[in-house]
Amino acid sequence: MDAAPKLFSALTLLLVGSWHLGSTASNYNCDDALVSSLPPTAFDSSSEFLNAHSPSFAKLNRRDGAGGWSPLESNQQQWLQIDLGDRLEIAGVATQGRYGSSDWVTSYTLMFSDTGRNWKQYRQEDSIWVFIGNTNADSVVEHKFLHSMKARFLRFIPLKWNPNGRIGLRVEVYGCSYKSDIADFDGRSSLLYRFNQKLMSTFKDVVSLKFKSMQGDGVLFHGEGQRGDYITLELQKGKLSLHINLGDAKLRFSNSHTSVTLGSLLDDQHWHSVLIERFNKQVNFTVDKHTQHFRTKGDSDHLDIDYEALCAHGPAFNPPCH
Ligand SMILES: *[C@@H]1O[C@H](CO)[C@@H](O)[C@H](O)[C@H]1NC(C)=O
Repeated sequence: MDAAPKLFSALTLLLVGSWHLGSTASNYNCDDALVSSLPPTAFDSSSEFLNAHSPSFAKLNRRDGAGGWSPLESNQQQWLQIDLGDRLEIAGVATQGRYGSSDWVTSYTLMFSDTGRNWKQYRQEDSIWVFIGNTNADSVVEHKFLHSMKARFLRFIPLKWNPNGRIGLRVEVYGCSYKSDIADFDGRSSLLYRFNQKLMSTFKDVVSLKFKSMQGDGVLFHGEGQRGDYITLELQKGKLSLHINLGDAKLRFSNSHTSVTLGSLLDDQHWHSVLIERFNKQVNFTVDKHTQHFRTKGDSDHLDIDYEALCAHGPAFNPPCH
């Protein structure tokens, strides 16, 4: 039998965070190659020309089989599907034609799904986005998305192809993993994030969460480090305040505490979304559709927090999260 549902939940939080470590710019890029290590079973397609043109041969820069995927017929009803195995953050794609052939795709659209059943189109500027593809069998054409997507499955849908050949594709997908949890808080519980490092020093943070609450006051999220850095997101009388201090408060006397407040009447028991994006001192703080851009005070660009410190609380911030 399932656990009995909670009768009273003051705060429900859906937390998605990606913390980007390190001090070199290459570290925070969400650009791991996600397709190259996938097993053949991760690939599917509308059809295949011959066994040697099966979708599992659609890996970028590989020459296995007939050197890529080609469907039985070349028309606009064809698709190549990749199952990434997990819901991942997807930041871009690359395509190539079928090796040593005259088969390549000159334009295509992308669809995403969490289940493999319900699909949504990749859109940009409010319309279905058409990606420019290849002009020969071997050159790689990459596209970085304007907004990263979160999905487990994606489909390449060829729109046009070499008029003197067929549809032919090899692909790569670039992205990274992220964390996601949903939890209820009653004021006595908290959710703890443990990182793989004892002390984290980040210059880029992305935290996105959704919450609903019937209490006007309470901490949603808090992290702090031994040197006095902290990041706190709290509801105060139905408004959301973000407090951030990157400045080694215990070592210096300069005031590097920055607070920004957004929204109102957020304790209305409806879902509200929050997005905090920080790059060095630049912070974008978005609550529902409203964004506040600000710079943190002080000299430091890095947030130094302890590895167990990020957590979410219910309405009462007690005991502190350590
Ligand atoms: C904040 O938003 C602006 C404009 O939308 C964007 O150019 C900038 O990269 C964002 N900054 C961060 C840290 O995400």
